[in-house]
Amino acid sequence: MERGLKIFLEPMLLNVLVFHLTCLTATASTKNQPLLPALIIFGDSTVDTGNNNNLTTLVKCNHLPYGRDFLNQKPTGRFSNGRVVTDFIADKLGIPNPLAYLNSDAKEENLSQGINFASGASGYYDGTAENFNVIPLSTQLQYFKEYQKKLAAVVGADNAKHLLSNAAYVISTGSNDYVNNYYLNLRLQAEYNGTQYQNFIIELASNFVRELYKLGARKIALLSLPPLGCLPSQRFMHGLGKTGCVEFLNTVAQQFNERLQDTLIMMKTSLPGSKLAYLDSYTTLYNVIQNPSKYGFKDSSLGCCGTGRLAVADICLSIDPGTCQDASNYVFFDSFHPTDATYSILADVLYKQAISQLCG
Ligand SMILES: *[C@@H]1O[C@H](CO)[C@@H](O)[C@H](O)[C@H]1NC(C)=O
Ligand SMILES: *[C@@H]1O[C@H](CO)[C@@H](O)[C@H](O)[C@H]1NC(C)=O
Ligand SMILES: *[C@@H]1O[C@H](CO)[C@@H](O)[C@H](O)[C@H]1NC(C)=O
Repeated sequence: MERGLKIFLEPMLLNVLVFHLTCLTATASTKNQPLLPALIIFGDSTVDTGNNNNLTTLVKCNHLPYGRDFLNQKPTGRFSNGRVVTDFIADKLGIPNPLAYLNSDAKEENLSQGINFASGASGYYDGTAENFNVIPLSTQLQYFKEYQKKLAAVVGADNAKHLLSNAAYVISTGSNDYVNNYYLNLRLQAEYNGTQYQNFIIELASNFVRELYKLGARKIALLSLPPLGCLPSQRFMHGLGKTGCVEFLNTVAQQFNERLQDTLIMMKTSLPGSKLAYLDSYTTLYNVIQNPSKYGFKDSSLGCCGTGRLAVADICLSIDPGTCQDASNYVFFDSFHPTDATYSILADVLYKQAISQLCG
């Protein structure tokens, strides 16, 4: 019997045992119970595992060279040569990888292994996703409501509720709201200055957390923005190339991250029983980018794909000349997205942060 289903068949036992515990522990059963029974994922390409595959959008990567270092060298729709950060986190928890919600395999018993609603190029702001014809966060939330009903139909209402309140909700988004929307969009810049735009995005992020809470989520983790100015595409667009990161974009990301962290601390008190985690991806990525050799990389300023400067999604193709032989030498696989090797380093740090804040 699968572990996921086994959890549902022992709800009485678990209800008693987890009463005093914030997260499930190995002592909850003679079987090794994972600390968190499932991951439920929202956001953008940093965690998308294929939801864009059948959309009419240029922002997809279910083609080589994406996935060339994945299981069976298979492109799945992940924006990386291999796994994304949440894949590593699921492995560390010892739970199955949640499937992309729009993947036709995501039905019946597979729903209890968690689920992934993330869509490359989306943001906290629905307008960001709409520019690229991908799945806005509000639609990801609608899908979550659908998922709750489907899950209850498979495992029963009580078991579904139990799973959904013990699961960890991971949200990784926001970069596109800045580098693929605000800073390319003069109308938006006229409408909001930097402070106002930050307020706007933070408000959307906190509303999203409140909505999840209303729907039964209790353990919610939000990733910080990465050092946006160090993305190869941004170095290229702002003319700094290999020489350095774009300072103003890093400052924007840092200021956003401080606000996000403060906002989550303030929100906790208004959401009884919640555990809200702020996961700092900025510091680790910044350190890796500044000292690539210390972490086993040869290059942190260019992506592996093509020339490494602009290639991403449908303009990162296997016929592109220049694509690197060994992506594990690179921090970035394309001009926006980290490699499998980088995500692995990041996951080590984020996993610890998540457990200490969600289970502490
Ligand atoms: C896309 O369509 C194919 C073929 O119908 C299907 O197998 C797949 O599950 C669909 N969705 C995703 C996200 O790949
Ligand atoms: C679906 O769930 C079954 C039973 O738990 C498992 O064996 C299978 O690998 C899952 N499929 C996918 C695509 O994750
Ligand atoms: C943005 O606009 C607000 C309201 O008009 C103003 O108070 C603030 O100083 C402006 N901030 C910046 C950075 O221009």
